[in-house]
Amino acid sequence: MRYGHFDDGRREYVITRPDTPLPWINYLGSEAYFGIISNTAGGYSFYRDARLRRLTRYRYNNVPFDLGGRYLYLRDSASGDFWSPSWQPTQSELEDYECRHGMGYSAISSCRNGIEAETLYFVPLGENLEIWRMRVTNKRDGEAKLSLFSAVEFCLWDAQDDQTNFQRNFSTGQVEVEGSVIYHKTEYRERRDHFAYFACSEPLAGFDTQRDTFLGAYKGWDSPAAVERGESFDSVAHGWAPCGSHHVELTLAPGESKEVIFVLGYWENPDEAKFDPPGSQTVSKKPVAPVIERYLRSDEVESAYQGLRDYWSRLLGILQVQTPDEHTNRMVNIWNAYQCMVTFNMSRSASFYESGIGRGMGFRDSNQDLLGFVHMVPERARERILDIAATQLPTGGAYHQYQPLTKRGNDAVGSGFNDDPAWLILGAAAYLKETADLSILDEPVTYDNEPGTESPLYEHLQRSLRYTLDRLGPHELPLIGRADWNDCLNLNCFSTTPGESFQTTENKEGGVAESVFIGGLFVLAAEELAQIAGLRGQTDEAKVYRADGAKMDTVVREHGWDGEWFRRAYDYFGDVVGSAKNEEGSIFIEPQGMCILAGIGLDDGKAEKALDSVSDKLATKHGIVLQQPAFTHYYVNLGEISSYPPGYKENAGVFCHTNPWIMIAEAIIGRGDAAFDYYQRINPSSREDISELHRCEPYVYPQMIAGKDAASFGEAKNSWLSGTAAWNFVAVSQWILGVRAEYGGLRIDPCLPKEWERFEATRRFRGATYQISVSKPKGVCKGVAQVTVDGKKIEGNLIAPQPAGAEVVVEVTMG
Ligand code: GLC
Ligand code: GLC
Repeated sequence: MRYGHFDDGRREYVITRPDTPLPWINYLGSEAYFGIISNTAGGYSFYRDARLRRLTRYRYNNVPFDLGGRYLYLRDSASGDFWSPSWQPTQSELEDYECRHGMGYSAISSCRNGIEAETLYFVPLGENLEIWRMRVTNKRDGEAKLSLFSAVEFCLWDAQDDQTNFQRNFSTGQVEVEGSVIYHKTEYRERRDHFAYFACSEPLAGFDTQRDTFLGAYKGWDSPAAVERGESFDSVAHGWAPCGSHHVELTLAPGESKEVIFVLGYWENPDEAKFDPPGSQTVSKKPVAPVIERYLRSDEVESAYQGLRDYWSRLLGILQVQTPDEHTNRMVNIWNAYQCMVTFNMSRSASFYESGIGRGMGFRDSNQDLLGFVHMVPERARERILDIAATQLPTGGAYHQYQPLTKRGNDAVGSGFNDDPAWLILGAAAYLKETADLSILDEPVTYDNEPGTESPLYEHLQRSLRYTLDRLGPHELPLIGRADWNDCLNLNCFSTTPGESFQTTENKEGGVAESVFIGGLFVLAAEELAQIAGLRGQTDEAKVYRADGAKMDTVVREHGWDGEWFRRAYDYFGDVVGSAKNEEGSIFIEPQGMCILAGIGLDDGKAEKALDSVSDKLATKHGIVLQQPAFTHYYVNLGEISSYPPGYKENAGVFCHTNPWIMIAEAIIGRGDAAFDYYQRINPSSREDISELHRCEPYVYPQMIAGKDAASFGEAKNSWLSGTAAWNFVAVSQWILGVRAEYGGLRIDPCLPKEWERFEATRRFRGATYQISVSKPKGVCKGVAQVTVDGKKIEGNLIAPQPAGAEVVVEVTMG
């Protein structure tokens, strides 16, 4: 069953009924000001940091699930009937409800009793504000007298404190109202320099800024007292819960339309110009006034919206493909790329499943998010790599997370996730392959943000590799530390206290837990660093890294191979994990993917065998589960993974992030049908028809789909913010379609389903545009027989970079 449809021409998903199984959301903003918005206008906004600079309040896990948002109410003065044109929160019956989620904007439209309303929500490029543009049209035969009310609830900035510290916060709220603008200025004194504003393009009939006055005692957002009676109270918040509500009166002739614009924004004043007049406590509004005035104008709003659409056309234009499969086209050309931008921006902080108060930017997460984003805005990827590296510890180790506002490592979560450092090498390598900008390697970067400790980025990469070599266990495999990629495989934790965090509790000393996964990752990272060293002319060093990699490769084959698949780890006591010897958790997906990506077992049949085992034991119709058999009880020596019920999350759920590793592995060994089949199983677009089961948005990847041991096998959870986005993008574009940036140019090395006969792609790469067409006889999956560039045959399948501005035609014949 579907709840809408794709409109690929407009790059939108169109939701045609408001009661989707879960809130189906979108993101507003692409640089510093962000918001999440659901198909019924739920959600919230923040500036840079979802925890520390929250503009609007949201109550997570609410009933109904999605309540609190960017609400508008219409009220018919004649009948007193009032409704929400976005359905929530009044849930009044609507004719023609439609929500169009697009690239950085959402538009919700509906009709009730002949009154049509369409609201477009977006954040203009380069601005720290969001626009709500509402168009109301009277489709009735007679005149309509209407009242329009807006409503947001302000958050008192720190979203965590806001939800807990009521004894203080109920006494701090402050606002100012001037003309049609409501200023939320809680704590805007000598200490705090920022405020929020909520402006309206029309003269007001009234306003409210005290939530309880606007709503009325014991009443909810579904029937605010002001809306019910058709008149604001002009309340000015003192303490309690400041809100923002404008009241606009509209009289529309039959057929007449009226546009009303609301602007919600964030502003910082410099210390010396905070107050007007100086010495008062009144917010100086002079600097922000021109911005507000500009975006309350219809023409400016329209051109900012067009600007946003053009921006996305440009970004998405960097890679466009035409394949025989519409789901592939749609995801590669539109939604997967878009999701990569969102995960790059948000890391794991703010979604309907991430509250925005818990987690900063993950060290390993952000490095992986880069992989799917770097081709779009390489300058931002560059900045991110340097930010991440600046939090690295002198040992080469890493804080597991850092805060985006301060860019400092997060002490609360700490470090010791021993895979973290290696991902920095992969992130940097992806940037270098895309741009050939070797200068990044010489950028001076601190350790632990400590001024004076700067060393070139290159040295950070060296220390990353060293970190693993300095921490080898009895089999000479890397010690796992707190955990590796699988945060929930906690081999040194031994937690017996309920509620204790597996990620932060003190580890038991003296163990020897080792990770085969990090072994694979190390082999991959060592080869990447060897290539980077080679580019710098440091050939001796490159040899050393290759030798380190080769040694680890041998160790993995020797101690990491179980006979039919790669083992997962050795536990604290040196006992094997992920082996046929284990009754539960005898095979894990991660080392099968990572070891093969690193090239281990390609020459001796191990890779093929491991992938056959994945197919036999882990693959399901809804994707490949993380391990089998699922853990049916808690294993104190394995940690969090065994705390989940079977089939969920890391305990044998389809943890989607890992699936593309298997797709890539299949592509590496040339099994195009298998690679593509796995790709299709979790492709959200190809799951659209089972939306009632899948439940999450059909346009973005979720973190997890419940595995076959779960009661709700096939049900997705935790949509949007997941390494799944970047890795699937890499798998399909670079390995299945095979269009891959390398240091020496653009490699075209597809691995396709047998049935396919051709596909086309356009790729902009280092300033030149490549029009690529690939053809192949049926029955072949892999192998390039001939490549021509502008009609001239080249050696091999690596196209040397063409001059910036060039447009070249590339013809690839497989066979
Ligand atoms: C979450 C974390 C990621 C981790 C994964 C597996 O997605 O953000 O860092 O690798 O879970 O545990
Ligand atoms: C939880 C999640 C896991 C995540 C970890 C880190 O354990 O299940 O996916 O990686 O938290 O925050």
